[in-house]
Amino acid sequence: MKNIYISAPFYGYGNHILKQSGHNIIYGPKDLKSSIKDYHAIITYVSDKISESLLDEATKLKVVSNYAVGVDNIDLLACKKRGIKVGNTPDVLTFATAELALTLILNCGRQIKEATSDVQKGLWKKWRPQGYLGPGLQNSTVGIIGMGRIGQCLGKMLSHGFGVNVIYYSRKDKNLSYAKYVELDELLSTSDYISLHMASNEQTQSFFNLEKFKKMKSTAYFINTARGDLVNEDELIMALDKGNMAGAGLDVTDPEPPKENAAIIRHPKVFLLPHIGSATLKAREEMGIIAAKNVLMALDDKPLVHEVIDA
Ligand code: DGY
Repeated sequence: MKNIYISAPFYGYGNHILKQSGHNIIYGPKDLKSSIKDYHAIITYVSDKISESLLDEATKLKVVSNYAVGVDNIDLLACKKRGIKVGNTPDVLTFATAELALTLILNCGRQIKEATSDVQKGLWKKWRPQGYLGPGLQNSTVGIIGMGRIGQCLGKMLSHGFGVNVIYYSRKDKNLSYAKYVELDELLSTSDYISLHMASNEQTQSFFNLEKFKKMKSTAYFINTARGDLVNEDELIMALDKGNMAGAGLDVTDPEPPKENAAIIRHPKVFLLPHIGSATLKAREEMGIIAAKNVLMALDDKPLVHEVIDA
């Protein structure tokens, strides 16, 4: 019997798979620094930082199974050096995350935050011909930065579902039928909505900064469902205050959650969600099953369902 640590309970059948395995399941939160030495496997979330110094204590650990597609919370090289496998949960959350990016686009473009907040504050007195006017999606251009699984799914939703002009910037031209590859500057200066879908790593930290915000149309919206650290948040606030762009729809921040008094929380031009990109019942169900199977496969010395290998 092995010890499997899960930093907080998750939803769905994956729990049953773990319980049926006969291993000892330990639910957190616990102080990992002092307890990781006892664990053979851990299931982690984006909020769990798995650093090299933590792994120094992890003498029995065979696998870190991340309940996420992004693995920027894990020191991959340190895991590799120690022969610890890393698993993740790609594909099953692609639709859900693209759907949330679309939700943010629609919410920004139709002034939904302002409108619902007025209703709740009792400010809906009569129909206003000039109230809550937004650009909407019709005839707009959406620029997608990072055309991996989620970027492509969003591109198809926008192009096939809304007939929107979709352009993208990525490491290379992918010859897609529903979206046109353009250089970054062209995307920045011509998009009505810009949606970020890059991976977070050392090279992409603060990728989106004031220089890039300044190139956007003053009427455009910036959407981020990827990772907060891809954006220089102080410069985002600056750009919003200076009117370099119309607003931002964000599902991620850096740090998460933001500090209590952070401008990003109450900024009138920011529509902020608490990192819920994958939060559909279906996506979370499947993420749990893969995370559980990744653990059991590693404990049996078998190939993981999804192993992260690019350290
Ligand atoms: C991921 O999977 O990387 C998301 O951010 C959390 O679901």
